[in-house]
Amino acid sequence: MDLKQIEIQALEEIEKINNPEELEKFKIKYLGRKGELTAVLRSLKDLPLDERKKHGQEANKFRSELEELIKQKQEELSAQGLAYRQAGGSRLAGQTTQLDITAPGMILPHGHLHPLTQVLRQAEEIFGSMGFEVVEGPDIETEYYNFDALNFPKDHPARDAWDTFWLKSDKLLLRTHTSPMQIRYMEKNNPPLRIIVPGRTFRYEATDASHSHTFYQLEGLMVGKDISVANFKAVIEEFLKKLFKQNLEVRLRPSYFPFVEPGFEVDVKGGKFKNWLEIMGAGMVHPNVFNAVGYNPSDWQGFAFGMGLDRIAMLKYGIDDIRLFYSGDLRFLKQF
Ligand code: PHE
Repeated sequence: MDLKQIEIQALEEIEKINNPEELEKFKIKYLGRKGELTAVLRSLKDLPLDERKKHGQEANKFRSELEELIKQKQEELSAQGLAYRQAGGSRLAGQTTQLDITAPGMILPHGHLHPLTQVLRQAEEIFGSMGFEVVEGPDIETEYYNFDALNFPKDHPARDAWDTFWLKSDKLLLRTHTSPMQIRYMEKNNPPLRIIVPGRTFRYEATDASHSHTFYQLEGLMVGKDISVANFKAVIEEFLKKLFKQNLEVRLRPSYFPFVEPGFEVDVKGGKFKNWLEIMGAGMVHPNVFNAVGYNPSDWQGFAFGMGLDRIAMLKYGIDDIRLFYSGDLRFLKQF
Protein backbone atom coordinates (compact mmCIF):
# COMPACT_ATOMS: atom_id res chain seq x y z
CA MET A 1 0.00 0.00 0.00
CA ASP A 2 1.40 3.40 -0.78
CA LEU A 3 1.83 6.18 1.68
CA LYS A 4 -1.06 8.33 0.44
CA GLN A 5 -3.54 5.49 0.88
CA ILE A 6 -2.20 4.67 4.32
CA GLU A 7 -2.57 8.30 5.30
CA ILE A 8 -6.19 8.55 4.17
CA GLN A 9 -7.12 5.28 5.83
CA ALA A 10 -5.35 6.04 9.11
CA LEU A 11 -6.89 9.50 9.45
CA GLU A 12 -10.34 8.09 8.84
CA GLU A 13 -9.86 5.33 11.42
CA ILE A 14 -8.46 7.41 14.22
CA GLU A 15 -11.36 9.81 13.94
CA LYS A 16 -13.77 7.03 14.96
CA ILE A 17 -11.81 5.66 17.88
CA ASN A 18 -13.52 6.14 21.24
CA ASN A 19 -11.76 3.91 23.72
CA PRO A 20 -8.18 3.27 24.79
CA GLU A 21 -8.16 -0.35 23.64
CA GLU A 22 -9.02 0.52 20.07
CA LEU A 23 -6.39 3.21 20.13
CA GLU A 24 -3.80 0.68 21.23
CA LYS A 25 -4.76 -1.60 18.33
CA PHE A 26 -4.54 1.33 15.95
CA LYS A 27 -1.08 2.16 17.17
CA ILE A 28 0.08 -1.39 16.57
CA LYS A 29 -1.58 -1.52 13.17
CA TYR A 30 0.40 1.45 11.87
CA LEU A 31 3.43 1.91 14.06
CA GLY A 32 3.99 -1.56 15.45
CA ARG A 33 6.87 -3.80 14.37
CA LYS A 34 4.73 -5.24 11.61
CA GLY A 35 2.74 -2.06 11.16
CA GLU A 36 1.75 -0.57 7.84
CA LEU A 37 3.72 2.62 8.16
CA THR A 38 6.66 0.69 9.55
CA ALA A 39 6.59 -1.49 6.42
CA VAL A 40 6.73 1.61 4.23
CA LEU A 41 9.67 2.97 6.19
CA ARG A 42 11.48 -0.36 5.95
CA SER A 43 10.96 -0.56 2.18
CA LEU A 44 12.71 2.79 1.69
CA LYS A 45 16.12 1.18 1.68
CA ASP A 46 15.26 -0.63 -1.59
CA LEU A 47 14.62 2.63 -3.42
CA PRO A 48 17.14 4.60 -5.46
CA LEU A 49 18.83 7.33 -3.49
CA ASP A 50 16.86 10.42 -4.71
CA GLU A 51 13.48 8.69 -4.34
CA ARG A 52 14.52 7.32 -0.98
CA LYS A 53 15.20 10.86 0.19
CA LYS A 54 11.87 12.25 -1.01
CA HIS A 55 9.73 9.33 0.20
CA GLY A 56 11.69 9.09 3.39
CA GLN A 57 10.93 12.68 4.30
CA GLU A 58 7.21 12.25 3.57
CA ALA A 59 6.94 8.99 5.47
CA ASN A 60 8.78 10.35 8.51
CA LYS A 61 6.68 13.49 8.49
CA PHE A 62 3.55 11.38 8.50
CA ARG A 63 4.92 9.23 11.31
CA SER A 64 5.36 12.32 13.51
CA GLU A 65 1.88 13.52 12.61
CA LEU A 66 0.43 10.15 13.47
CA GLU A 67 2.27 10.03 16.79
CA GLU A 68 0.95 13.48 17.63
CA LEU A 69 -2.63 12.47 16.70
CA ILE A 70 -2.38 9.37 18.88
CA LYS A 71 -1.18 11.45 21.81
CA GLN A 72 -4.07 13.88 21.40
CA LYS A 73 -6.55 11.05 21.21
CA GLN A 74 -5.12 9.51 24.34
CA GLU A 75 -5.57 12.76 26.27
CA GLU A 76 -9.09 13.16 24.98
CA LEU A 77 -10.04 9.64 26.04
CA SER A 78 -8.56 9.86 29.52
CA ALA A 79 -10.31 13.21 30.13
CA GLN A 80 -13.58 11.58 29.13
CA GLY A 81 -12.90 8.63 31.39
CA LEU A 82 -12.16 10.91 34.34
CA ALA A 83 -15.30 12.94 33.77
CA TYR A 84 -17.25 9.72 33.58
CA ARG A 85 -15.80 8.40 36.81
CA GLN A 86 -16.26 11.72 38.55
CA ALA A 87 -19.89 11.70 37.51
CA GLY A 88 -20.21 8.48 39.47
CA GLY A 89 -19.85 6.01 36.61
CA SER A 90 -17.80 2.87 36.82
CA ARG A 91 -15.75 1.17 34.16
CA LEU A 92 -17.51 0.76 30.87
CA ALA A 93 -17.58 -2.74 29.46
CA GLY A 94 -14.52 -3.34 27.36
CA GLN A 95 -13.01 0.01 28.24
CA THR A 96 -9.97 0.30 30.41
CA THR A 97 -10.02 3.35 32.64
CA GLN A 98 -6.65 4.77 33.42
CA LEU A 99 -5.61 5.16 37.02
CA ASP A 100 -5.49 8.86 37.80
CA ILE A 101 -3.09 9.15 40.68
CA THR A 102 -3.90 12.83 41.10
CA ALA A 103 -7.60 12.17 41.78
CA PRO A 104 -8.63 12.65 45.45
CA GLY A 105 -8.49 9.40 47.43
CA MET A 106 -11.40 7.57 48.95
CA ILE A 107 -12.21 8.96 52.39
CA LEU A 108 -12.71 6.21 54.93
CA PRO A 109 -15.40 6.99 57.48
CA HIS A 110 -14.13 7.17 61.03
CA GLY A 111 -15.94 7.63 64.30
CA HIS A 112 -15.68 10.35 66.91
CA LEU A 113 -16.61 10.94 70.52
CA HIS A 114 -20.26 11.09 71.47
CA PRO A 115 -21.44 14.65 72.24
CA LEU A 116 -22.04 13.69 75.88
CA THR A 117 -18.50 12.36 76.13
CA GLN A 118 -17.19 15.57 74.60
CA VAL A 119 -19.02 17.70 77.14
CA LEU A 120 -17.92 15.41 79.95
CA ARG A 121 -14.28 15.67 78.89
CA GLN A 122 -14.53 19.45 78.78
CA ALA A 123 -16.11 19.49 82.24
CA GLU A 124 -13.36 17.25 83.60
CA GLU A 125 -10.76 19.52 82.07
CA ILE A 126 -12.31 22.68 83.54
CA PHE A 127 -12.81 21.26 87.05
CA GLY A 128 -9.38 19.68 86.79
CA SER A 129 -7.88 23.12 86.24
CA MET A 130 -9.51 24.16 89.54
CA GLY A 131 -7.98 21.25 91.42
CA PHE A 132 -10.86 18.77 91.32
CA GLU A 133 -10.04 15.10 91.01
CA VAL A 134 -12.27 12.80 88.91
CA VAL A 135 -13.59 9.72 90.72
CA GLU A 136 -16.19 7.19 89.72
CA GLY A 137 -18.55 4.87 91.55
CA PRO A 138 -20.83 1.88 90.92
CA ASP A 139 -24.07 2.10 88.93
CA ILE A 140 -25.65 -0.46 91.25
CA GLU A 141 -25.91 0.95 94.73
CA THR A 142 -27.20 -0.05 98.12
CA GLU A 143 -30.06 1.73 99.80
CA TYR A 144 -27.58 2.87 102.41
CA TYR A 145 -25.37 4.89 100.04
CA ASN A 146 -28.14 6.14 97.76
CA PHE A 147 -30.44 7.26 100.60
CA ASP A 148 -29.65 6.49 104.28
CA ALA A 149 -26.15 7.93 104.53
CA LEU A 150 -27.34 10.97 102.58
CA ASN A 151 -29.72 11.83 105.39
CA PHE A 152 -32.92 10.66 103.78
CA PRO A 153 -35.10 9.77 106.77
CA LYS A 154 -36.54 6.25 106.59
CA ASP A 155 -39.95 6.26 104.89
CA HIS A 156 -39.61 9.96 104.27
CA PRO A 157 -41.55 11.19 101.22
CA ALA A 158 -38.32 12.72 99.88
CA ARG A 159 -37.33 9.21 98.76
CA ASP A 160 -40.28 9.22 96.39
CA ALA A 161 -38.86 12.20 94.52
CA TRP A 162 -36.16 9.87 93.27
CA ASP A 163 -38.22 7.25 91.44
CA THR A 164 -36.09 4.23 91.94
CA PHE A 165 -35.41 1.09 89.93
CA TRP A 166 -35.18 -1.50 92.68
CA LEU A 167 -33.35 -4.69 91.91
CA LYS A 168 -34.75 -8.04 92.92
CA SER A 169 -32.01 -8.70 95.41
CA ASP A 170 -32.50 -7.05 98.74
CA LYS A 171 -31.80 -3.33 99.11
CA LEU A 172 -29.95 -3.00 95.85
CA LEU A 173 -30.97 -0.36 93.33
CA LEU A 174 -29.77 1.51 90.27
CA ARG A 175 -28.37 4.74 91.67
CA THR A 176 -30.81 7.61 91.22
CA HIS A 177 -28.02 10.20 91.48
CA THR A 178 -24.23 10.39 91.77
CA SER A 179 -24.42 11.70 95.36
CA PRO A 180 -23.77 8.24 96.94
CA MET A 181 -20.19 8.69 95.76
CA GLN A 182 -19.85 11.61 98.18
CA ILE A 183 -20.22 9.09 100.99
CA ARG A 184 -18.02 6.42 99.44
CA TYR A 185 -15.23 8.90 98.82
CA MET A 186 -15.35 10.60 102.24
CA GLU A 187 -15.38 7.23 103.99
CA LYS A 188 -11.99 6.48 102.47
CA ASN A 189 -10.36 9.91 102.25
CA ASN A 190 -9.61 12.69 104.68
CA PRO A 191 -10.48 16.33 104.11
CA PRO A 192 -9.69 18.77 102.61
CA LEU A 193 -10.87 17.44 99.25
CA ARG A 194 -12.20 18.40 95.86
CA ILE A 195 -13.78 15.80 93.61
CA ILE A 196 -16.13 15.53 90.68
CA VAL A 197 -18.05 12.32 89.98
CA PRO A 198 -19.39 11.81 86.49
CA GLY A 199 -21.62 8.83 85.92
CA ARG A 200 -24.74 7.18 84.68
CA THR A 201 -27.88 7.55 86.77
CA PHE A 202 -31.32 5.97 86.52
CA ARG A 203 -34.87 6.95 87.33
CA TYR A 204 -38.04 4.98 87.02
CA GLU A 205 -40.02 7.50 85.05
CA ALA A 206 -41.71 7.95 81.71
CA THR A 207 -39.52 9.03 78.84
CA ASP A 208 -40.18 12.27 76.98
CA ALA A 209 -38.21 15.07 75.34
CA SER A 210 -36.68 16.13 78.66
CA HIS A 211 -36.70 12.85 80.63
CA SER A 212 -34.83 9.65 80.08
CA HIS A 213 -34.77 6.66 82.44
CA THR A 214 -31.00 6.64 81.98
CA PHE A 215 -29.00 9.83 81.99
CA TYR A 216 -25.72 11.31 83.16
CA GLN A 217 -24.91 13.39 86.18
CA LEU A 218 -21.83 15.22 87.27
CA GLU A 219 -21.48 15.45 91.02
CA GLY A 220 -19.13 17.87 92.72
CA LEU A 221 -17.88 17.98 96.30
CA MET A 222 -15.47 20.36 97.95
CA VAL A 223 -14.69 20.13 101.66
CA GLY A 224 -12.34 22.33 103.66
CA LYS A 225 -11.96 24.35 106.84
CA ASP A 226 -13.97 27.33 105.71
CA ILE A 227 -15.59 26.59 102.39
CA SER A 228 -18.62 28.80 101.82
CA VAL A 229 -21.48 29.40 99.42
CA ALA A 230 -19.35 32.18 97.90
CA ASN A 231 -16.70 29.59 96.95
CA PHE A 232 -19.38 27.47 95.37
CA LYS A 233 -20.71 30.36 93.33
CA ALA A 234 -17.23 31.30 92.14
CA VAL A 235 -16.41 27.73 91.08
CA ILE A 236 -19.67 27.34 89.18
CA GLU A 237 -19.36 30.72 87.48
CA GLU A 238 -15.87 29.80 86.33
CA PHE A 239 -17.08 26.42 85.08
CA LEU A 240 -19.97 27.93 83.11
CA LYS A 241 -17.82 30.70 81.68
CA LYS A 242 -15.30 28.19 80.35
CA LEU A 243 -17.86 25.67 79.10
CA PHE A 244 -20.18 28.13 77.36
CA LYS A 245 -17.37 30.53 76.44
CA GLN A 246 -19.26 33.55 77.77
CA ASN A 247 -20.02 35.22 81.07
CA LEU A 248 -23.29 33.98 82.51
CA GLU A 249 -25.26 35.23 85.46
CA VAL A 250 -25.77 32.66 88.21
CA ARG A 251 -28.67 32.71 90.66
CA LEU A 252 -29.12 30.48 93.71
CA ARG A 253 -32.73 29.70 94.56
CA PRO A 254 -33.61 28.03 97.87
CA SER A 255 -34.51 24.36 97.51
CA TYR A 256 -34.52 21.16 99.50
CA PHE A 257 -32.28 18.10 99.36
CA PRO A 258 -31.87 16.05 102.57
CA PHE A 259 -28.07 15.95 102.27
CA VAL A 260 -27.47 19.71 102.14
CA GLU A 261 -28.34 22.70 104.31
CA PRO A 262 -28.98 25.22 102.97
CA GLY A 263 -29.93 23.71 99.63
CA PHE A 264 -30.52 25.49 96.36
CA GLU A 265 -31.24 25.18 92.70
CA VAL A 266 -28.79 26.95 90.44
CA ASP A 267 -30.15 28.99 87.54
CA VAL A 268 -28.24 30.65 84.71
CA LYS A 269 -29.07 33.52 82.39
CA GLY A 270 -27.21 35.52 79.78
CA GLY A 271 -25.93 35.27 76.21
CA LYS A 272 -28.16 32.96 74.26
CA PHE A 273 -30.11 32.11 77.44
CA LYS A 274 -32.69 34.87 77.66
CA ASN A 275 -34.62 33.46 80.62
CA TRP A 276 -33.42 31.90 83.87
CA LEU A 277 -32.67 28.22 83.29
CA GLU A 278 -32.31 25.66 86.05
CA ILE A 279 -29.10 23.69 85.63
CA MET A 280 -28.31 21.91 88.89
CA GLY A 281 -29.07 21.20 92.52
CA ALA A 282 -26.54 22.15 95.16
CA GLY A 283 -25.99 23.14 98.76
CA MET A 284 -23.73 23.09 101.78
CA VAL A 285 -22.99 19.56 102.99
CA HIS A 286 -25.37 18.62 105.80
CA PRO A 287 -23.79 17.90 109.22
CA ASN A 288 -25.48 14.48 109.26
CA VAL A 289 -23.63 13.56 106.08
CA PHE A 290 -20.31 14.46 107.73
CA ASN A 291 -21.33 12.41 110.76
CA ALA A 292 -22.13 9.42 108.54
CA VAL A 293 -18.55 9.39 107.19
CA GLY A 294 -16.82 10.21 110.49
CA TYR A 295 -15.90 13.85 109.80
CA ASN A 296 -16.50 16.27 112.64
CA PRO A 297 -19.10 18.79 111.35
CA SER A 298 -17.72 21.51 113.61
CA ASP A 299 -14.30 21.20 111.95
CA TRP A 300 -15.32 20.90 108.33
CA GLN A 301 -17.68 22.45 105.86
CA GLY A 302 -18.19 22.08 102.16
CA PHE A 303 -20.43 22.38 99.19
CA ALA A 304 -21.89 19.74 96.90
CA PHE A 305 -23.65 20.01 93.59
CA GLY A 306 -25.17 17.68 91.04
CA MET A 307 -25.89 18.64 87.46
CA GLY A 308 -27.50 16.74 84.64
CA LEU A 309 -24.81 16.37 82.02
CA ASP A 310 -27.41 15.74 79.32
CA ARG A 311 -29.08 19.01 80.15
CA ILE A 312 -25.79 20.89 80.03
CA ALA A 313 -25.01 19.31 76.64
CA MET A 314 -28.51 20.17 75.38
CA LEU A 315 -28.02 23.81 76.38
CA LYS A 316 -24.53 23.95 74.91
CA TYR A 317 -25.56 22.56 71.53
CA GLY A 318 -29.17 23.74 71.41
CA ILE A 319 -30.66 20.23 71.41
CA ASP A 320 -34.31 20.00 72.37
CA ASP A 321 -34.78 16.27 72.90
CA ILE A 322 -32.71 14.23 75.37
CA ARG A 323 -33.65 10.98 73.60
CA LEU A 324 -31.45 11.91 70.65
CA PHE A 325 -28.35 11.21 72.77
CA TYR A 326 -29.41 7.61 73.19
CA SER A 327 -30.87 7.02 69.72
CA GLY A 328 -27.64 5.89 68.09
CA ASP A 329 -28.82 7.85 65.05
CA LEU A 330 -25.78 8.75 62.96
CA ARG A 331 -27.59 11.63 61.27
CA PHE A 332 -27.68 13.22 64.72
CA LEU A 333 -24.29 12.10 66.00
CA LYS A 334 -22.37 13.16 62.90
CA GLN A 335 -23.15 16.79 63.62
CA PHE A 336 -20.76 16.91 66.58
N1 PHE B 1 -28.38 14.57 93.82
C1 PHE B 1 -29.26 15.65 93.52
C2 PHE B 1 -30.20 15.24 92.40
O1 PHE B 1 -29.98 14.26 91.79
C3 PHE B 1 -28.49 16.89 93.11
C4 PHE B 1 -27.66 17.47 94.24
C5 PHE B 1 -26.36 17.07 94.39
C6 PHE B 1 -28.20 18.42 95.07
C7 PHE B 1 -25.58 17.60 95.41
C8 PHE B 1 -27.44 18.94 96.09
C9 PHE B 1 -26.14 18.55 96.23
O2 PHE B 1 -31.19 15.91 92.13
